[in-house]
Formats: sequence, C-alpha cells, structure tokens
Amino acid sequence: MSSLTNKQILLGVTGGIAAYKSAELIRRLQDQGANVRVIMTAAAQEFITPLTLQALSGNPVHTTLLDPEAEAGMGHIELARWADLLLVAPASADFIARLVTGKGDDLLTTVCLATAAPICLAPAMNQGMWHSPATQDNLARLSQRKIVCLGPAEGSQACGDVGPGRMLEPTELADLTARQFVRGELSGKSVVITAGPTREAIDPVRYISNHSSGKMGYALAQAAIEAGARVTLISGPTNLAPPERCHYIGVESAQDMYDASMQALSDCDLFIAAAAVADYRPANAAEQKIKKTGQDTMTIEMVKNPDIVTAVAAHQPRPMTVGFAAETQDVVSYARGKLERKNLDVVIANDVSQAGIGFNSDDNAVTIVWPGSEETLSQRSKSQLARELIERLAEKLNA
Ligand code: PMT
Repeated sequence: MSSLTNKQILLGVTGGIAAYKSAELIRRLQDQGANVRVIMTAAAQEFITPLTLQALSGNPVHTTLLDPEAEAGMGHIELARWADLLLVAPASADFIARLVTGKGDDLLTTVCLATAAPICLAPAMNQGMWHSPATQDNLARLSQRKIVCLGPAEGSQACGDVGPGRMLEPTELADLTARQFVRGELSGKSVVITAGPTREAIDPVRYISNHSSGKMGYALAQAAIEAGARVTLISGPTNLAPPERCHYIGVESAQDMYDASMQALSDCDLFIAAAAVADYRPANAAEQKIKKTGQDTMTIEMVKNPDIVTAVAAHQPRPMTVGFAAETQDVVSYARGKLERKNLDVVIANDVSQAGIGFNSDDNAVTIVWPGSEETLSQRSKSQLARELIERLAEKLNA
C-alpha cells in the first residue's frame, strides 16, 4: 500500500480553472500523511486565493521570488531543498512551455530549476491546447528529463469542449503521487541499517553519547523500503518513529548494536552503518549512582568498543558494506582512509563542522567515496539524499 507518511510535498499551483481542485488535493495529500507547502503563480491567484490554500495546508503560501521578507523566512533554495517531491497541479500549457525552456522568471519555475526532488505535472487545459503539437512536443521533452506527467483525464471541460485535458481528480492524484515513492531497485534484497547514537553507561543514570538524531539512518531505511527491500533498522535511542514496514531493533550501547548487527547478518545483502557509534566506553559502569566527592576532578577509564562496520566487512558471507564518515576537516582524505582501513565498499563522507548539515539537522551534503572515484551531492533534505544514495548503492549491488 502506498502512503505519504512524513513526505514533504511542494504543491505548485498555476493559472487555470482546475486550481479550485488544488484545495481538495491538499487535503487528500494530507490524508496520506504528507506535509504540504504551496507555491502559487500570479495567474493561479486569479482563480483561488493564497489564504484558502494557506488555511488548508497549515503553512504560509509562497507567491513571489523577489520578496525579501519571504526569502528571509523560507527562500526559494530552502523550498527546493525541503521538497521530497514537487507536484504542479494544475500545470497549465503556458507553465509547461516555460518549464521546457528552463526559465526562472517566477518562484515556481525557479524552484523547479533548483530542486533535486522528482517533479510531477498534472496538466489541465482545453483539449485543443492539449492536442497542440507544441504542448505534445514540450511534454515529450520534459519526459526525457524524467519529469512525470500524471493525466490528464478526458471528459467535459469548463469551456464546453469534450476531450482530454481535465486535471485528474484529487484522490487519484494523491494516490499517483504516493506511488512515485515506491520503486523496485532493491526488490528481493535484504538491507540492514544502523542509525542514531549509542549510549555508554557511566552509572545507572549517566552515560556518554553524541548528537546523532538518527534522521540520516531513518531516511535511508525509508528510502530502502520504498526501493522494495526488506529492511532491518538497528537504532540507538532517538525521538523518531521507525518507518512503517521495517524490522526495528532498538539498542542502547555500541556492544548492543554490535550484537544485533552480527545477528542480522544471516540475511543481509547490503549493510549501511549510519550510526554514530561511541569508539570507547567506560571500563567499569558503576552499579549504583556515583556520588559527588570532595575531589575537583574525576577520571573515567575508557576501553575500546568493537568496530561494528569493520566486523561486518570481515564477515563471511560478506554483504556490500557501506560506512559513513563524520569529519570536521580533510573530509575526503579521512573518508578514504576509513574505506581502506575498514575494508568497505564505499564511504559516505559528511562534513559535520558545517552549520545546517550533519548531526541533528534536516539536511545533509555528502561526498560518496568509492575505491576509484568520488561524487559530491550538495545540500538537500536527508530524505532526498537518502533516495539518491539508495539509488547509487542499488546500482552497484545489482551490477
Ligand atoms: O543521525 P543524524 O543526526 O541524522 O546525523 C547523521 C550522522 C552525521 C550521524 C551520519 O551522517 C554519520 O556521519 N554517521 C557516522 C558517524 C560516525 O560515527 O562516523 P565515524 O567516522 O566515527 O565512524 C566511521 C564509520 O564506522 C561509521 O559508519 C560508523 O557507523 C562506523 N563505526 C564506528 C565506530 C564503531 N565502533 N563501529 C562502527 O561501526
């Protein structure tokens, strides 16, 4: 069953009578769990007011590109990064033509240019305009750019004509939007992902941990599920709800995560270590709460934790093994060092010194470090990034 749980859908509304259906479309997308933000073109506002769509979406509606106030809130680049999918409904013939030319002369076309998210169009126009060679040629060119056309439906039109050009009904559009997230590149494969921080006990009430929120690992789990994989998510403590349809194993310490990972290897094609695992733990966790003493300093002896991803890469049979590298300097060269030392197939390197990406943020930017090459994916939402990473990993796994 498809669903839009936790998906961020950016709805573009262009000028056409079908714009009134966008109000219901927002509701149908929300029914499936989506968080919806709306961009309206100037022409769309002639048919329906931003206030209506703001009230329904629960978010401010974005209408202008060159508005300092709007840009200070959520500017066009943030919107482009925010979206997991950009759905333009209705998409007028004029908007489709402008999209083909790569124009960025209003907010919606600019966001279309800037986003790395998939773009879907729900055309709505008079049947004559739909049949016109110009429109058909434009749609063929957009299809080459992997822009997906949803519809249109056939039937009687507002102008009295009968034929193709009616925007699909909101319920069908919401279902088709959800289906865009269901892919098959990992179908039949079993994927194990570690996520979040570990907690290393000092005593029953204190621990050593780090700032990992689990967002990157959970986004990878969601993307792998959508790619058709059976997913086991082994996670340290986080505030996140595990994705639906995954086998979730909650753990606390690095040793727990190691034990759970080793057990999961009996059925694993792809292992992704996104967790921030503590390298060391207190040698002796106190059984009772440690009391304050008269001393000004306190020393905790630490011992090394097992390295989970290294053990996975040494396991027979060996799954394709993917590490992450959280670095604050010389990101790629340290990542390459980990690739070789830990005998990994690939390392996903992120610069955790940069504000707005890495630990606990909604976005990330990474360099994929393969044995003989590198690829950089610039800043985007962790869910967008996760989908692209899963695509790359599936390609390698299936090769
Ligand atoms: O959780 P978020 O807030 O979304 O943040 C995401 C993230 C920054 C935590 C994630 O993108 C990331 O970089 N995870 C790895 C962080 C890290 O601990 O890197 P490292 O360089 O210390 O470890 C290298 C690799 O070895 C990692 O794949 C790690 O999971 C693994 N490792 C490390 C130590 C250990 N004992 N066992 C391991 O398996």
